[in-house]
Amino acid sequence: MNILGIETSCDETAAAICSNGKILSNVVSSQLIHSEFGGVVPELASREHERLINLVVEESIQRSSIKLENINLISVTNGPGLSGALLTGVCFAKGLGLGLGIPVIPINHLEAHIFSNFLAEPNLSYPFVCLLVSGGHTQLWHIKGYEEYELLGETRDDAAGEAFDKGARILGLGYPGGPEIEKCAENGNPNAVNFPRALTDTNKIEFSFSGLKTSLLYYMDSFESSKECSLSDVASSYQQAIIDSLLNKINLAALKTNVNTITIAGGVAKNQILRDKLKNDFSNYKIIFPDFNYCTDNAAMISFLGEIKLKLGSKSSLDFGIYPNFKFL
Ligand code: KG4
Ligand code: ZN
Repeated sequence: MNILGIETSCDETAAAICSNGKILSNVVSSQLIHSEFGGVVPELASREHERLINLVVEESIQRSSIKLENINLISVTNGPGLSGALLTGVCFAKGLGLGLGIPVIPINHLEAHIFSNFLAEPNLSYPFVCLLVSGGHTQLWHIKGYEEYELLGETRDDAAGEAFDKGARILGLGYPGGPEIEKCAENGNPNAVNFPRALTDTNKIEFSFSGLKTSLLYYMDSFESSKECSLSDVASSYQQAIIDSLLNKINLAALKTNVNTITIAGGVAKNQILRDKLKNDFSNYKIIFPDFNYCTDNAAMISFLGEIKLKLGSKSSLDFGIYPNFKFL
């Protein structure tokens, strides 16, 4: 079974081929056009997807060494995401599926992020907790079984990735902010500035990062780099505040659900300090991370989940729409 996955929900134009649970190719074209604006411009994202989608899909097929006529299924992200961006991928997938006479099935981007953990650990067993941390989402899920998902809690305002992106802008760093802050923080002191960790004294599983961003903004108003506190110290302290907030609620989720496995997914899951701290603080748990390539948006996770869904009975149709605000299942 050869599955072509297509992902265009935000600013990555991506295509991948999965064959019997193995990723044969994974092509991601990250749209650099947004960097000068410090965030994704939806109209530009749609236009870039339209320009790139054919090339990216062709390249994913070439790299996989599978022939176009040997593709059995197309799976495509239909939400959540930017509507114009989603439409580009969905229309392309439906047209190609019709042309080739093969089924097309819609995929929820968030579910695919969570399932990227099965790419890292095929023997991952239910139930487990998943921290889904991306540019658009910060959620804790109790994954009890296939299509048995309980949302334990999420952010009240900004997502963790957004806190990294906006924080980087305040610090004068580039976009996307997560890797920029992580790099800048490398030799910094995480305890140099005491940034707030919102909602960590409540028993509710919910996050808030907007106050943290504001406190960085005020802090930087009067900041002058010195021996006592460098920009690297500020970045490290800010990063640490985000990570502490995430770990605090992972702990609550693990206690509440009584699971023995914790997974993370989404772009922020690339952060090495988060990974190290998670392993260290939860040493009694099995901890799974997706490969770096499968944390940020990609189509490998879309093709992989497409294959699982087809095998478990999902039906193809061409009348599915896009769901920019998907809250799944
Ligand atoms: O999953 P993703 O590619 O897109 C969404 O579905 O939103 O996540 C992108 C987010 C961005 O906010 C980016 O700053 C963040 O992931 N990110 C990181 C790192 N790499 C990417 N955040 C922290 N540390 C990183 N190393
Ligand atoms: Zn994503």
